[in-house]
Amino acid sequence: MISLRPNVRMGLVGLALTTAGMAASGEEPALKHVVPKGLLIGAAVSERQVDGRDAIARRVVTRHFNSVTPENLLKWRPIHPQPDEYVFEPADRYVAFGEDHGLTVIGHTLIWHPQTPDWVFVGKDGGRADRETVLSRMRTHIEAVVGRYRGRIHGWDVVNEALNDDGTFRETPWLETVGEEYIAKAFEYAHAADPEAKLYYNDYNLWKPEKRAAALRIVKQLRQRGLRIDGVGEQAHYMLDSPSIGEIEATITALAGSRVQVMITELDIDVLPRDPEMRGADLPKQAEFLAETNLYPNGLPKAQQEQLARRYADIFTLVMRHRDKLSRVTFWGVTDGQSWLNNFPLRGRVNYPLLFDRQGQPKPAFNAVVDVLKGS
Ligand code: G3I
Repeated sequence: MISLRPNVRMGLVGLALTTAGMAASGEEPALKHVVPKGLLIGAAVSERQVDGRDAIARRVVTRHFNSVTPENLLKWRPIHPQPDEYVFEPADRYVAFGEDHGLTVIGHTLIWHPQTPDWVFVGKDGGRADRETVLSRMRTHIEAVVGRYRGRIHGWDVVNEALNDDGTFRETPWLETVGEEYIAKAFEYAHAADPEAKLYYNDYNLWKPEKRAAALRIVKQLRQRGLRIDGVGEQAHYMLDSPSIGEIEATITALAGSRVQVMITELDIDVLPRDPEMRGADLPKQAEFLAETNLYPNGLPKAQQEQLARRYADIFTLVMRHRDKLSRVTFWGVTDGQSWLNNFPLRGRVNYPLLFDRQGQPKPAFNAVVDVLKGS
C-alpha cells in the first residue's frame, strides 16, 4: 500500500473536526462537483431508492452522483422471469429517474450466471436446452431489454463474471450450453439492439494477474471477430488491506493498455473478516462465524473509521493519478444500511463499506475522498 501524501494526511487529521459540522448542516461538497471533469462518479441504486421509499439514500444519490447503475432491477430474473413475461416498470422508473436528474444511466447486466431463471436453459424435453435454443433466448432477451432503452441507457455490462480467478472460463450454464462463443454472441446482439450504447465486460478480482490476462484475451478475441467492446469494469469489492494499491494500479494500467475505457464499477470496502474456512454451508458453524465476525454491531469505532478513510484516500489518490485512463468510479450502494455486504457472506452482519452512514450522513471516509479530490 502506498503511503498517504501530506495533504491527504492533513485532511485526515482534520476529519474529527469537520465531520460533525458537515453531517449536521448537510452542506458537504457534492462528490460530482469535486471529481475531475470527464470522470463519472456513480452509485448502484435499488428499486426502493428510485421510487422514493428509501428517501434518505435517494437524496444522497441526487446530491452526490452523476451516474447510476441498477443494483438488481435490470438483471434477467427480475425483468424477464418467464419466457413471455417482462416486468419493465421498475426499470422504466430507474431510467426515467436517471434522466430526470441528468445522470449517466448504466445497464447492469445482460448475461450473468446468477439471477438467470432456470427456464433459459431447459429444453422441450425437460433436459438441457440445445445451443441454438439458448442463443435464440439470449437474443430475444437482449433485443427486448437493450432495445427498449435504446438511446437512453448509456452503456451496458454485457457479460458479467465469465471468468474464474485462475483465468479459466467459469463453468456456467451459458458456457455449458453455448460454449465460449456466448460472450461474443452477447456483444453482437447488444450492439445490434443499440448501436450507440457502450458495451462493457465486468468482473471482480481483475487485480489478479491470471484473471486480468484472461479479461484482456476476451477484449482481443472480440475485436478479432470484428466486434466492439468499449470498456472493462473492475468491480472493486475490496477489503481494508487487500488488494494492495500496487495491484489495483497494475490493473488500471494493464486494462488501459488495451485501449478500452477502464472503470471501477462496484466499489466498496468490507470492514469485517471473511471466512477462511468457508463455514457458510455448515449451519452450526455459521452461527459461530457470525458471532466471531460481526465485530461492530453498534457502530464502527473511531480507529476502524479512520482506517476505512485512509483506505478510501489511498484508492482515490490512485484514481486521481490515473484519471486520464478511468472513465467512471461507481460505488456498490449508497448508504451502509442497504449494502449487500450486510448479507454476505452471511446474512445479518452489520457492515460499513460505503461513504455514507445509515442516516445518509457523510462518514470520515467521505471527507477523506473529498480531500483527495480537492487536493489534486
Ligand atoms: O427481491 C427479492 C425479494 O422479493 C425476496 O423476498 C428476497 C428473499 O431473499 O430476495 C430478494 O431478492 C434479493 C435481491 O438481492 C434484492 O434484494 C436476492 O435474494 C439476492 O440474491 C440479491 O442479491 C444481489 C446479488 O447481486 C445477486 O443478484 C445483491 O443485492 C447485489 O448487490 C449483488 O450485486 C452483485 C453484482 O450484480 C455483480 N457483482 C457482484 C455484486 C455483489 O454480489
